[in-house]
Amino acid sequence: MSKIYALVVAGGVGERLGGDMPKQYLSISGTPILRQSILAFANHPAISGVRSVINEEHQDYYKRISQNLECLPPVFGGDTRQKSVRLGLESLTEFVPDIVLIHDAARPFVDAGLIDRVIAALETSRAVIPGIPVTDTTKKVSGEVVIETLPREQLSFAQTPQGFHFDTIMDLHKRFADMSHFSDDASLCEQGNVPVQVVLGNVLNRKITTMVDITQSIPHICVGHGFDTHAIGPGENVMLLGVSVPSGFSLIGHSDADVGLHSITDALLGAIGDGDIGIHFSPQDERWKGEDSGIFLKHAAQKVRERGAVISHVDVTIIGEKPKVSPYRDAMIARLMELLDLDRNRVSVKATTTEQLGFCGRGEGLAAFATATVVYP
Ligand code: CTP
Ligand code: MG
Repeated sequence: MSKIYALVVAGGVGERLGGDMPKQYLSISGTPILRQSILAFANHPAISGVRSVINEEHQDYYKRISQNLECLPPVFGGDTRQKSVRLGLESLTEFVPDIVLIHDAARPFVDAGLIDRVIAALETSRAVIPGIPVTDTTKKVSGEVVIETLPREQLSFAQTPQGFHFDTIMDLHKRFADMSHFSDDASLCEQGNVPVQVVLGNVLNRKITTMVDITQSIPHICVGHGFDTHAIGPGENVMLLGVSVPSGFSLIGHSDADVGLHSITDALLGAIGDGDIGIHFSPQDERWKGEDSGIFLKHAAQKVRERGAVISHVDVTIIGEKPKVSPYRDAMIARLMELLDLDRNRVSVKATTTEQLGFCGRGEGLAAFATATVVYP
């Protein structure tokens, strides 16, 4: 069983991304980038210890992002990535590792499967890197002039973690310490004639280099909630989710009193923080008297689109003892798909009774709850 350590290099200043805070301390979806990178290794069962290399000027930032992390105390890096790695490796010698995985803190999306592939290949190779096959035709250029087209089959984008037999890479870093221009650790192997094996990387394991990499990595998902209720009155049918359902009563309301569509409309408006149905369609406005509530829903969907968002999913629950919803569920779903322009698996219609409890249970009214999920691409 090999003793495997991970070295997460975070000593850079993030010049290309800019901003007040170095990029590795910014958060993506609530977790700081460096913390996310450390966790990927700290949570991996094959790894005995994780050490970060940080910039001496960033100690306060590090303190803030490293609460309750199970890892070794950090060491300070140097003014190039190569120096930072060497200082980190030297600090690990006391643990006598068999294998070290060297990872850029700026790649927070590294996954356990990728770490597994690198570790597995190290059983037979002294140096292993994850690579992504190049799919675009790739040119060698000089300024704005093309020199030649490179053979794509021979090209691969190198990622991290790059894995090495510890003694091999420690030795190379000492030997080439004065040739300070290597942007990854496999380059030192190439310089020292140590063969490097490539295993499949992961396109999601991108390096955060500029602000675009951060904004493209954040799934802006918002969820809105809606609730509506209408009193039962004399009549024969109710409008539920755009379908007229025989019920032996009606629902009292200014419009067609469709509780289901009203709750989804509010959920959509809630998801984009744009008030509620009463603000958009005043109950005092004569225009909406007896109106088909489908227009309210379509209006809310339009508002979502105007914000640059797309509706990902809506889910509604109708609450009442009567009428039975199940015979009409397919028709309701079809109507919602049409009104919202959504696929079948993005629309959900449910119903429940309240076991004869409360105003719905006593047959005084019907109610509906809804959620809507919108995504900002
Ligand atoms: N790194 C390091 N020590 C340095 C320079 C870089 O440990 N002196 C680390 C970075 O923190 C990063 C990784 O090496 O996790 C890859 O470097 P890069 O993406 O270039 O980050 P920065 O050097 O911080 O960014 P920039 O080049 O834009 O300044
Ligand atoms: Mg750099």
